[in-house]
Amino acid sequence: MVTRSLTLKDESATRALGTQIAALLDVGDVVRLFGDLGAGKTTLARAVIEALTGEADAPSPTYTLVQTYETDAGHVLAHADLYRLDDEDELEELGLDEALEHGFTLIEWPGNAPSFAPPDRLDLSLTETEVGVREARLEGHGRWEGLIGEF
Ligand SMILES: Nc1ncnc2c1ncn2[C@@H]1O[C@H](COP(=O)(O)OP(=O)(O)OP(=O)(O)O)[C@@H](O)[C@H]1O
Ligand SMILES: [Mg+2]
Repeated sequence: MVTRSLTLKDESATRALGTQIAALLDVGDVVRLFGDLGAGKTTLARAVIEALTGEADAPSPTYTLVQTYETDAGHVLAHADLYRLDDEDELEELGLDEALEHGFTLIEWPGNAPSFAPPDRLDLSLTETEVGVREARLEGHGRWEGLIGEF
């Protein structure tokens, strides 16, 4: 595991981090987005989605739990929000494993499905340190151990 901490001084810095992550994603990768309500998980996920699909105002999958996209490069991009996942057994129905065969997955509230931790993954934790400012802690696993130095 390789770790790194970054200060995101405003929302555009969080979005820029999302754009950087998007450029590094490869088939089979998972980005788990940890953080409290309002920490910036969806803000970051939207930037990833915009970079890869051109979709600027991606909806938050709060009720649908998962929203899937096709990227401009023809990959599947799944954006999941597990806040309302009642039972980890329901995870299979969301098709996140399938998405990984053809693309990549972003997950908000991954703590509700702790067993979903594929090997090539970026665990990213966002914390509000001041109004408008976030601390991002990046933890690279598998392929992402070698990518943490890019940030
Ligand atoms: N540096 C920052 N990075 C990200 N968002 C910020 C930042 N500063 C302020 N914000 C604001 O914080 C809010 C983050 O909301 P967002 O929906 O992204 O959080 P979330 O972690 O997805 O919350 P939830 O758990 O409810 O889904 C937005 O209103 C955004 O404008
Ligand atoms: Mg959210």
